Amino acid sequence: MVNRDKIFEASAMIRHSRRVVGFTGAGVSEESGISTFRDPNGLWNRYSGGASGGIMGILKRHPEAANELFSEMLQTFKSCAPNPGHYAFADLEKMGYLKSIITQNGDNLHQDAGSLKVFELHGNLFRFRCLDCAQKKHFPKDELFSFVENILLNIKQFSIAWVMPYLPSCECGGKMRPDIVTFGESVHQLDEATEEVCKCDLMLISGTSGMVYPAAALPVDAKKNGAKLIEINPNESTLTARCDLFLPGKTGEILPEIVKEIQEMRE
Ligand code: APR
Repeated sequence: MVNRDKIFEASAMIRHSRRVVGFTGAGVSEESGISTFRDPNGLWNRYSGGASGGIMGILKRHPEAANELFSEMLQTFKSCAPNPGHYAFADLEKMGYLKSIITQNGDNLHQDAGSLKVFELHGNLFRFRCLDCAQKKHFPKDELFSFVENILLNIKQFSIAWVMPYLPSCECGGKMRPDIVTFGESVHQLDEATEEVCKCDLMLISGTSGMVYPAAALPVDAKKNGAKLIEINPNESTLTARCDLFLPGKTGEILPEIVKEIQEMRE
């Protein structure tokens, strides 16, 4: 059951803020059917090797699990769609409160829900980058799905050498890889995201355990710069103790209630 006093308090904090920035993680896409990473049934708990090395860590440790892993991801991304939590973030941007979202997710669901200014620290699954010239290209979802289906038809034991011929080619002739950030690689758009954090006076945090740096340092920087922090999460995270307001629960259930309260306050 959503706590009405906290909904009212969060709504008032957002309305009285000058510049709100969103900070999201896998939990905001959980209600769209996408597995989180560190929840009990999360990806890293179901496939060992993920917690230390991400998807590539799983494939290195369990190359034979590639078919199962790719099949799960294909089914998930074929059927997923933005949930009320994504739409509520987009509404806050349309209403003029939220200036941008800094996300750790690469599922494109914030953009699919209508959010315009999204910084993707960990890249985007539907964008590829050339290994030779670094040119980037967004693939239509169905084109990407057929690319993965083709791999699944032929895959036996995963290896980088094995998958290379299946990767799409760039105009320059080079091979293109998914433009997602794997463990040990530099994150994307960190400077722009840090600039947003320095300018905001309220950060709306949702769906993240706050375990992965440098992303997890951004709410700490926001707090240091004098911003207020609001967090929505069914569980406490590493960030909760720093937050000015913690609303226990799911993004898709709580954030639409906050948006509704703000709309009613404005009438
Ligand atoms: N609404 C809000 N929060 C939720 C929901 C929900 N419906 N469901 C789960 N959560 C919370 C969980 O309680 C947890 O705190 O979302 C968080 C998910 O944490 P993680 O699985 O660690 O995901 P995230 O914080 O995004 O991980 C960061 O780690 O492995 C890397 O690259 C990966 O981008 C990812 C990064």
